Amino acid sequence: MSDRGKLRSRAWFDNPSSPEITALYLERYLNYGLSLEELRGSKPIIGIAQTGSDLSPCNRHHLELAKRVREGIREAGGIAMEFPVHPIQETGKRPTASLDRNLAYLGLVESLFGYPIDGAVLTIGCDKTTPALLMAAATVNIPAVALSVGPMLNGWFRGERSGSGTIIWEARKLLAAGEIDEEGFIAMAASSAPSVGYCNTMGTASTMNSLAEALGMQLPGSAAIPAPYRERGEMAWRTGKQIVEMVQADRRPTQIMTREAFENAIVVNSAIGGSSNAPIHLLAMARHAGVELSNQDFQDIGHHVPLLVNLQPAGSYLSEDFFHAGGVPAVIGELLAAGLIPHPDVLMANGRTLAENYSGLSSQLPDVIRPVADPLVAEAGFLNMTGNLFASAIMKTSVISPDFRARYLSKPEDPDAFEGPVFVFDGPEDYHARIDDAALGIDGTSILVMRGTGPLGYPGGAEVVNMRPPAYLLKQGIEALPCIGDGRQSGTSGSPSILNAAPEAAAGGNLAILKDGDRLRVDLNTQTVTLLLSEEEIEARRAALEAAGGYHGPASQTPWQAYFREHVRQFDEGMVLDRAGDFHDVGNAATPR
Ligand code: FES
Ligand code: MG
Repeated sequence: MSDRGKLRSRAWFDNPSSPEITALYLERYLNYGLSLEELRGSKPIIGIAQTGSDLSPCNRHHLELAKRVREGIREAGGIAMEFPVHPIQETGKRPTASLDRNLAYLGLVESLFGYPIDGAVLTIGCDKTTPALLMAAATVNIPAVALSVGPMLNGWFRGERSGSGTIIWEARKLLAAGEIDEEGFIAMAASSAPSVGYCNTMGTASTMNSLAEALGMQLPGSAAIPAPYRERGEMAWRTGKQIVEMVQADRRPTQIMTREAFENAIVVNSAIGGSSNAPIHLLAMARHAGVELSNQDFQDIGHHVPLLVNLQPAGSYLSEDFFHAGGVPAVIGELLAAGLIPHPDVLMANGRTLAENYSGLSSQLPDVIRPVADPLVAEAGFLNMTGNLFASAIMKTSVISPDFRARYLSKPEDPDAFEGPVFVFDGPEDYHARIDDAALGIDGTSILVMRGTGPLGYPGGAEVVNMRPPAYLLKQGIEALPCIGDGRQSGTSGSPSILNAAPEAAAGGNLAILKDGDRLRVDLNTQTVTLLLSEEEIEARRAALEAAGGYHGPASQTPWQAYFREHVRQFDEGMVLDRAGDFHDVGNAATPR
């Protein structure tokens, strides 16, 4: 119910100033099979923002779950109206799924604003669907609650857990080293996807669904239930009932997505070993909710938090194990007990505080969700790296392997720092074409740089910064080289890259002036990456680049790519559209004309 004291949908179906308009809307929506009595009564209309489709297999189970959502809505006295959201499928959409996060956002804002909807159930799952829908909910600010589709069941390959994405990075190395053939590669990949649901590792999907719960935007316990489990259907029904209550209470997204709630989410992100895409998406959601949030907040609030969740890629287990260990409720319960949740009193979707929802809950499988006293990694959050190459880039320290630490970060005279010469690649095609060329001279001291892959360069930002070493180094047992870039990295990758660099090469960042053989110093103590060149040399190279016309990615292939490039901000501003941050509370501020 809005400030106007009545449901916003009444402006369509009960418009005293224009009975003609009322009649027009009524006769169309009667075609849906609803009665005049229902439409003219006081039942709230609940939109079910449907992200599942044949093009979006990760979210496809929502087509089934929506039936239970409807039953919950109907039972609580609401009317359900399901409608499609622009599909975003992480691995299917070219050039990148993240290009479409803002497109789905724009579309959903228009749907929620321009139709007779009093509240919304947001069907989340595959990576970008969660931020897109929560961003829209934040902008429109009518009551909204998310429902995860749930992760896939555990994958298995030859008796071992086979996790989404993570098995691909593994299989790529085996293929490059000649230990498997193409058929073996496909068999490994297929083993990781045994059921409906989203990726079963702690990649971007599990991360963002977990954070939607930690933020209070979906019901306690909702994130971790595997898609095929019976509890998933029950959660769908409960979510349907809850949204009707939320409309009656006029509990809106900006009451839930507060600065305090984002700070809690940053802590939870560290404890679960969340994806390096999380800063981009949380920054975007925060901006649309009117909350200040930065990459530095991730370091300040999240870096000291221990890694509790032993899921691939940082750990060993998968989503089904996470559910049996207690899921997000157990993680938050453990963090609360240790005093690590900064704001236990924030309001959540069900009208209770975080502390009321989660106090007293604890891990049921201590090897899967570790107690705070016995974490996998003591400091698991991100570092916000700066320096003369970029203003801000993210490093996920929880995935630094013992081998990597020993080779790069354990010199007694200079701990947590290393130097090396760079090899620079301009986008994934360039990398794939040249990485195995022994003539480049890449060796165990090299640093790989990927540029041209930020929001402008490869529209939406490509997930390519985590680069495997050349095949000849893999055969020598060198499993990982340091990687730096202006693109993103799959949340399912275990590479300790420095990524999401802003400004990117195509936005005037100094990555554009790097040349093969330049030396970089990476220092985790001071959170800096330094190009070891004089100011004069840097200025001279910048001038030469500008004289040559600057650094550009490939031409836009569609109208949306062109619009996106004209209006998008960098990763350290959440990759939001420039005007989008100007509009707040649009579902309450005005009735559509
Ligand atoms: Fe859709 Fe991973 S590809 S959730
Ligand atoms: Mg991804």
